[in-house]
Amino acid sequence: MASPSHLSFQLQIFVLLAIAATAFSSALSPYFYDHVCPQALPAIKRVVKAAVAKERRMGASLLRLHFHDCFVNGCDASILLDNTNTFESEKFEGPNNNSTRGFEVIDQIKAEVDKVCGCSVVSCADILAVAARDSVVALGGPSWKVRLGRRDSTTANATKAIDDLPNPFMDLKNLTTIFRRQGLNKRDLVALSGGHTIGFSQCFVFRERIYSARNIDSAFAQKLKATCPRKGGNSTLAPLDPSPASFDVAYFSNLVKQRGLLASDQALFSGGSTDALVKTYSNNPEAFWEDFAKSMIRMGNIKPLTGTQGQIRENCRRVN
Ligand code: HEM
Ligand SMILES: *[C@@H]1O[C@H](CO)[C@@H](O)[C@H](O)[C@H]1NC(C)=O
Ligand SMILES: *[C@@H]1O[C@H](CO)[C@@H](O)[C@H](O)[C@H]1NC(C)=O
Ligand SMILES: *[C@@H]1O[C@H](CO)[C@@H](O)[C@H](O)[C@H]1NC(C)=O
Ligand SMILES: *[C@@H]1O[C@H](CO)[C@@H](O)[C@H](O)[C@H]1NC(C)=O
Ligand SMILES: *[C@@H]1O[C@H](CO)[C@@H](O)[C@H](O)[C@H]1NC(C)=O
Repeated sequence: MASPSHLSFQLQIFVLLAIAATAFSSALSPYFYDHVCPQALPAIKRVVKAAVAKERRMGASLLRLHFHDCFVNGCDASILLDNTNTFESEKFEGPNNNSTRGFEVIDQIKAEVDKVCGCSVVSCADILAVAARDSVVALGGPSWKVRLGRRDSTTANATKAIDDLPNPFMDLKNLTTIFRRQGLNKRDLVALSGGHTIGFSQCFVFRERIYSARNIDSAFAQKLKATCPRKGGNSTLAPLDPSPASFDVAYFSNLVKQRGLLASDQALFSGGSTDALVKTYSNNPEAFWEDFAKSMIRMGNIKPLTGTQGQIRENCRRVN
């Protein structure tokens, strides 16, 4: 029979093993930086808050960066790498080119985090994931515990940025396929598309829809034509929903009224299998918030590099 001192010895071994298992496990954890740098998460939140206070749209841009990172070879900060002799940056390809923004804010966060931690221990991939969450919170949306411990890639794949990111001309079938390839289902597709409750799109993206689509409210289309003519004005912005700085359900209630800005938005409410969920979210903010938070965690879990894979970049734009 084990004496009490044996028991406590066994308990100590157990605790040590549990700690080791956590440290070397390949699963992400919300507590990953709690001991190595407890100041990291508050520092990210501070810089995001300041950036969003300066320009509300930055919250949207930072959320989108995390999404475009995760869909191209997993959440590994590959989107942040600049061009090199050995690979082409993802920044200038497909839906990223002349469109993704916020890279300077990520640089600023990385500098601040390294300063408060005293060294480079927080990955750029984790910074993207936390900045996305803090952006949503800054614009009045839900919060969630971001799983951490991702490491940074040592390469990028520009071709994959074209192949694996959804484009705004896709129908429900195409969108479903693109999300399924990432292990995400239709519920994730609809909830995450709710990210379009914040931010803007350029005229060249929605021009075809406002001039040619049939599943669009005609007054809505007419109004947009004033700032998005048939020719010219390609980079003129329109809000993705009527309240582009509030994380509300207006994106969904708009879809029900056929006022989705992108063809891919309206595709979610166009007589198909996702109509019911769009309707649910359109008058149930709690349901949207809960599902959005869950799906953000699922998206954040896409193919992370962990343990000794990859590296912790010192400069998010360059491999060490
Ligand atoms: C479902 C497929 C999706 C498509 C086809 C799509 C496409 C687009 C396009 C074309 C734009 C405008 C880009 C521009 O005009 O420069 C945009 C903006 C945006 N997207 Fe998506 N998106 C999708 C899903 C998502 C998801 C899952 C999120 C995040 C959870 C997201 C977050 C955003 C945000 C926040 C903006 C505004 C960015 C800004 O104002 O800087 N999108 N998206
Ligand atoms: C990205 O867009 C610019 C114009 O803004 C264009 O000159 C360039 O060719 C595009 N890059 C790629 C890889 O297509
Ligand atoms: C790229 O985007 C900038 C800023 O939105 C805009 O001024 C410029 O005209 C765009 N270039 C092209 C080729 O679309
Ligand atoms: C990039 O991704 C494409 C698929 O989109 C793949 O065919 C190609 O081998 C990848 N390139 C590299 C360098 O990994
Ligand atoms: C949608 O999928 C079909 C079939 O795979 C493909 O031919 C088509 O080009 C896709 N549409 C878009 C807009 O990507
Ligand atoms: C504007 O966008 C359209 C559609 O994408 C493109 O065909 C055209 O070349 C663009 N014009 C300019 C000046 O960039």
